[in-house]
Formats: sequence, C-alpha cells, structure tokens
Amino acid sequence: MAEGAGERAEKLRGLIVYHNRRYFDLDDPEISDAEYDELVRELATLEGEHPELVTAESPTQQVGGAPVGLFAEVRHRTPMMSLDKTTSYEELLAWGKRMERYISGEVVFTCELKVDGLAMSLLYEDGRLSRAATRGNGELGEDVTANVGTIAAVPSRLGPGHPEVVEVRGEIYMTVGAFDELNDRQVRAGGRTFINPRNAAAGSLRQKDPAVTAERELSFSAYQLGEVVGGPAFKYHHETLEWMSRLGFPVSGYVQTVGTLEEVDRYCTEWLERRHGIDFEIDGVVVKVDDLAQRRELGATSKAPRWAIAYKFPPEERTTLLKDIMVSIGRTGKATPFAVLEPVVVGGARVSLATLHNEDQVRAKDVRPGDTVVVRRAGDVIPEVRGPVLPLRPEGLAPWSFPSNCPVCAAPLQRLADEADTYCINVDCPGQQVQRISHFASRGAMDIEGLGERTVALFCKEGLLVDAADIYTVDFERAQAFEGFGPTSVANLAGAIEASKSRPLANLFVGLSIRHLGTNGSQVLARAMGHMDRVIDAPEDEVAAVEGIGPVIAASIKRFFSLPRNRQVVERLRAAGVNFEGPSAPAAAQTLMGKSIVVTGTLERWSREDAEAAIKARGGKAPGSVSQKTTALVQGSDPGGAKLAKATELGVPVLDEAGFEHLLETGELP
Ligand code: IVH
Repeated sequence: MAEGAGERAEKLRGLIVYHNRRYFDLDDPEISDAEYDELVRELATLEGEHPELVTAESPTQQVGGAPVGLFAEVRHRTPMMSLDKTTSYEELLAWGKRMERYISGEVVFTCELKVDGLAMSLLYEDGRLSRAATRGNGELGEDVTANVGTIAAVPSRLGPGHPEVVEVRGEIYMTVGAFDELNDRQVRAGGRTFINPRNAAAGSLRQKDPAVTAERELSFSAYQLGEVVGGPAFKYHHETLEWMSRLGFPVSGYVQTVGTLEEVDRYCTEWLERRHGIDFEIDGVVVKVDDLAQRRELGATSKAPRWAIAYKFPPEERTTLLKDIMVSIGRTGKATPFAVLEPVVVGGARVSLATLHNEDQVRAKDVRPGDTVVVRRAGDVIPEVRGPVLPLRPEGLAPWSFPSNCPVCAAPLQRLADEADTYCINVDCPGQQVQRISHFASRGAMDIEGLGERTVALFCKEGLLVDAADIYTVDFERAQAFEGFGPTSVANLAGAIEASKSRPLANLFVGLSIRHLGTNGSQVLARAMGHMDRVIDAPEDEVAAVEGIGPVIAASIKRFFSLPRNRQVVERLRAAGVNFEGPSAPAAAQTLMGKSIVVTGTLERWSREDAEAAIKARGGKAPGSVSQKTTALVQGSDPGGAKLAKATELGVPVLDEAGFEHLLETGELP
C-alpha cells in the first residue's frame, strides 16, 4: 500500500477538520456535501477496520467545527447532534439490527424529508421567541435571534396555551422558487448568484443587518421538539409534530408513519423519484423511531442518536475544474457560452460540458477558466455550472469576457439592446450551416439516420453540403472516398435520405428552422393548411388565425418564406420529391373555395379559432361580419345577437354545429 492506514486516517482527519471549518464557521464550503460525506465514510470504514486508529479527537467522534466570529456564541441546553447516514436498503437493515441490541418488540418509524437548509434551534420563553441559534458544533452555536425574528414562517409569539419554555428544532431553508427569484434579481443587479438554495439560505441568515435577511424569502420547517417546561407529555414523535403545528410552527405535510423498514425503503425510493416535484430541495429522508420511550432506551453515541438515521440520496452536485469557456453557434446563429470541465460523475452521469446560457449568466456566476466550480445535474435536467469555489481560485485569474467575433466564421457577434443573447449575424456562417442541416436531418424533423452532426460537418467541410436541399443531391461517389464511408454505409445513407422524402409535412416545417416555430406549431400548421404552398401563399393574418400559431409565429413564417434563399431551398426540396402535403388532403381543403362563412356564438366541439381555421384550411374565408357575400352564418347554441339579425335580414342561411360540419365535409349547405 502506497499509504499506510494510519497515515491515510490522519490525512482524512485533517481534511475533514478543514472542511468542517469551511462549512460551519466560514459558511463557505469548498466541496459538496456528498464529497464531504465520502471523506467521513472512508475514515469511518478505516477506523472500523483498524479500531486502534480511533482517537477521541477524531471527527467521527465529534460534530462539526467550532463556531467563530460574527454572532455571539450560545451554548445549547441539549446538544444538537448530527445523524448517522445510510445510502442503501442493506445499511438501513443493519441499522435496524443494531437497534435490536437495545430494544425489543415492534418498532414504528416516522419518515420525514431531509430538507436541505440550516439546522435551527428556536427557544420560546413565556410564549416569545427568546433565542434562535444555529447548530454550530452541536454544543455551541451562534445567536441569530435578530435575523430569525424577521422570518415570517417563524412565529415570534406563540398563541394561548403555550408552555412556559419550549425549544423547537427545525430547518431554515429557501424554496427553489425564492432561490431562482433571488438569483434573477442578482443577475439583473449585476451581482453574484448563489450556488444553491442552502448557500442562499445560509448567506441570507448570516447577515450583520437583519433588514437584509428580512428581504430574503426564507422558510422554516419544524421537525424535532426539544426541551419543554410546563407543557403536555408525549409518548410518540408524531404527536410532538402535531403539537408543534398547533402551536403555529410549519410542519411538513409529507411525514409518514410506517411499521417496517421495507415501507421505509419504499418511502425513500418514492421520494428519490419525486424529489424534483416539490418546491424545496431535499437531500434524503430522515427516519426516526416514533416511540419516545424506545428512544430513551436506545440513547446515543457520542455523535448521533441511535434512534434516527439519514437516508442520503445520491449526490447531484460535485466540484470540478473549469478548464475553459467556449462559445457554440446554434442554427439561428445564437452564440451560447459553455463550460469545458474536467470530467466528473454527477447525478449518475459523466459530465464534461455544461451550458452557461449567456453573457449575463457568466458574469453573475463569475466563473473563470481555472476555477474549481460546483456542477449540478438534477434529475433529467442538463448539467449546470452553479458557481466558483472562490477560496480555491488561483491568484491572478482574469474574468472571462464574451468574444467579439464568431469562433467559427470570425464575423462580428452582435448583442441587441434589451436581449440577453448574442448572435453571429452571418447567415453563411459554416457553424450555423452545420447546425441547420443536422437539425433538418434530426429525429424530430426529417429523421435521416446516418446524417448526424459529425457527418454533416464533414460533408460541409468537403463542400458536399451548403444547405438542407443539398442533402437530396449529395454526390455519393465522392462521399464514398471519405474515411469511414464504405459502400455499405453510403448505400444506407442514400436509403435513409430517400425514405425521408415521405416524412409528414409537419416534420419538414420543423426541419426548416423557422424561428419560433416548434414541433407543436408545425403540427397545427400542417394540419390546418394541408400543403406547403398554402403556407407560402396565405396572407399573414390567415396564418396567424390558425390555433396555436398566433401573430409572432405567423410573422416569422412569412419572413422566412419572403427570403429568396429560403424559397430556393424549398423549390429544390420540391424538385427532389420531398413531401409537401399535410394530413388533410388538398381536395378536401378546397371544398370552401370562394365561400365566405361567418362563425358566431359558442360551439360545443369547436373553439372559434379552430372553426375559422377549418374554414380557411378548405379555401374559404371567415370574416368577422355578415354581408351580402356571406355563404352561411354558423350560430352557436347561445341566443343570437346582431349577426343573426343581419343574416335573417339578408336571407343568409343560418347553420347549427351539425350543419357546419356537413358544410366543412361536403362544401354544400345541408
Ligand atoms: S432530525 C438528532 N429531521 O439534517 C436529530 N434533521 O444531520 C436531529 N434535517 O443538519 C435531526 N431535515 O438540520 C432531522 N426532518 C428532519 C430533517 C433534519 C433536515 C437536517 C438537520 C441536520 C441534518 C442531520
């Protein structure tokens, strides 16, 4: 072994003491909770294997570091212990087994969410909040009464029937919504953003000026009853939760009392899945023995009670080196900064790149190449760089600045006033071309297998592709000469390109990269208009009238087709035999050609917009008022108004919903 067990334990102790100080005293952790837990776990395992290495001073025998500084020191009346941790069902069962040494009989458990915030002790004397203290090292905490007094969720007075003295313990935290809002405000004010809701909560609480705390939206959740003088006696933990709630403390609504560790495990698994469905961050589940008499029998080790355990979720945050910040060019020319990271496994996936969104975000996070950064990957969310670990910043690290030229084509990058995004304004930028063509070939669009970004980039570089229409005239003989492109792969690609010609019209709309027009818009457009040419020829207001399109998308569609270069691409796609027809046949779409139908009142099966879109899709007009030219008035079930009166006066046929549907289908009045 390169390092003896004794040396390793010594090193781990040093590291843990150092990180305790950063976390507890300085409120400025350098490593994520998960990484810290790993150090403790390694030390505990080592001490388990070599009991002779355990010392009274070992961090495994203590709780946190000693508080220093800003706030007055207070001694907790009863120590605030921490919890032992588990990460698996097996460890949970082992905990259950250990307890059998101290107690016998049935055990009932309460399962609670482990809110990721700061532990807080609230002491009430004669019904008034007399002291709020952080946990500190468990024995000594910091007096933060003035700041906690500004938090609306913490009662400053208790209602009638309160005991003489009561200590309530719980978590001060910030909801994800409040955290996002705070960070948005920070970005707008040009300030620095917070790394996560826990840091934001800690930073908001540890303020010299309580007015600052008051501005931050902090929440509180009570989870443990401490000392009580002159109050009722309780037998079960769940009763204490109910009582604290009655006294006016927020208590989690997600607590569950169960009879087996199997059910505990089910609760943990359920919350591992659901953890992103709630508006606050949790990093696990706390499992507690419900019976208070059993708790007394179980007692505690020097560090943690034996009657509770924290089931920790896998980490979603890690620290790693930010090697560089680069800029990518999207299909619309948008220049997006992204982080190049020393690869790190976070949230179960290996992360080496992460988006930084835009210039303002980089500035607000103040991340610089060379920084150690916190990377987060929650659920299916794409990885995100939260911020730098400032104490680890090497001296003289320069702030990053947005490049003034496109990294691909060197054209100037432009950021419009009042917009957060920066664009490469050269439509011929090869970077944009590659993105536009690979998007055209992507699964949600024309779905051409074998034409991924790498192949597109190669074909563009070799001059085989300039725009999407070139796909259908690719010189396969030349392609065959490229490395990695044998006759089989080229034949497969040719087949995939041929097959893409019959994709639905909606897919073609998606593939054209028309700004603001997404998948949904493409589908409703294809359904309502039925043919590419109808979209090209229709006036803007007709396109805007299609339900789900609206004026912004319609304007963008019209702008797209007004540009000669786009029209040329469309014509070449037509010449190649690409499908231009939508789901509704053009013959049916033309049944109302030359007819003018007015819709009024409320229909059961049609919204006004859908009804008008259906008329227009069949070549008809759907004006807002009745005239002599009106073919028919479609009147909803509600009583007729001015339009009905006018139609009656002019002898215009009036149709109900069934009559309307008949007209749509056949083009004839019923
Ligand atoms: S019980 C002795 N219950 O998790 C038992 N703790 O080390 C004391 N936490 O920082 C803790 N949610 O602030 C308990 N429902 C919950 C909790 C919870 C979050 C925190 C606690 C402490 C850590 C446990």
